[in-house]
Amino acid sequence: MVDLRESWSIGPVEIPTRLVLAPMAGVSVQAFRRQGRRFGAGLVCSEMVSCAGIEHRNERTLGYLRVAADEHPLAIQLFGSEPETMAEAAQMVEAAGADLVDLNFGCPVKKVTKTGAGATLLDDPDHAARIVSAIADAVELPVSVKLRRGLRDGSRDCLVVGPRLVEAGAASLTLHPRSAQQMYTGSADHSLTAELVSLVDVPVVASGDITSRAKAQAVLATSGAAAVMVGRAAQGNPWVLEEIVDGPRGEPSREEIVAELVLFIRETVRELGERRASGFLKKFYGWYLGHGRFPRPFKQELVVLDSTEEVERRLIAAAPGSLELIEQLEAEIPSGDDVTLELPISIYGGG
Ligand SMILES: Cc1cc2nc3c(=O)[nH]c(=O)nc-3n(C[C@H](O)[C@H](O)[C@H](O)COP(=O)(O)O)c2cc1C
Repeated sequence: MVDLRESWSIGPVEIPTRLVLAPMAGVSVQAFRRQGRRFGAGLVCSEMVSCAGIEHRNERTLGYLRVAADEHPLAIQLFGSEPETMAEAAQMVEAAGADLVDLNFGCPVKKVTKTGAGATLLDDPDHAARIVSAIADAVELPVSVKLRRGLRDGSRDCLVVGPRLVEAGAASLTLHPRSAQQMYTGSADHSLTAELVSLVDVPVVASGDITSRAKAQAVLATSGAAAVMVGRAAQGNPWVLEEIVDGPRGEPSREEIVAELVLFIRETVRELGERRASGFLKKFYGWYLGHGRFPRPFKQELVVLDSTEEVERRLIAAAPGSLELIEQLEAEIPSGDDVTLELPISIYGGG
């Protein structure tokens, strides 16, 4: 049996468990990452951050570079297509206090691929390698790259591109073995992950369809990957991370669910502000309260409420015992105000 509590390393960065929390746009806020660490993820990752946004000092983009003291080790993920712009953005990631710079060479979304970023780079190994080498030269942090199998169905391009990126300086690769064309349909073919592992001498992380401890164990054992990455299964369900790392723990109680969701709401409001957070959080209500945990109309009630305070009141009324748990958790976990590091002023380019 594979021990998921075993540590491993990317370059000098030690990662305490063999479970990585996936970068997910519109999901991987600090609250998600800090919760993931608490529930057993050894490494957490920001959602993809635009290098162009960083270059133009876009305020919202710079917000993605905020790192909390209890998130480490943390990767900040960049997407872009220009080696120089990306190298400068990587320097900002380093200054912001991340432990790894991760590069997105897998995003299948048109808005990203039409700019020459994301999965399109899988079609141009020379250019992809130039990006990695520019960044590896510009920063001390280890550089990791996240790939899909290729652009088109059945593609095996990752087996050509992956080793090139390692030659160019990548210290780790993550493979989501679906094609960009597939988006999220079909299934992740981890036999490709095993092939990639045999071709490179850096740790490979297996991403795609890891939804249970059994699946994680099977993929680790058959692919030789250093770690598994968990994405969709962790949405509204941090308990699955605990189960994957430590074994069965039973369903969370209603009180536990409400306590984690309330904490998540409070922290996200601190991070994004009430107005942005109240829209952002709506999908999480369904994720937390679904799985047959609460009656469906209850979620519907929450998503139409205007303020997150009102949502919190209704949640606590539905599981009054959660109050004690919330207090206990808040006492144990340092509050966001204490742990969020202010960005060094140079990050703002003086402006
Ligand atoms: C909503 C959503 C957003 C995502 N955003 C990113 C992203 O910003 N960067 C990235 O590399 N992958 C992103 N992914 C892909 C995931 O990191 C992961 O590779 C994929 O979902 C497969 O893993 P899973 O089956 O565990 O979800 C995203 C996936 C989802 C569902």
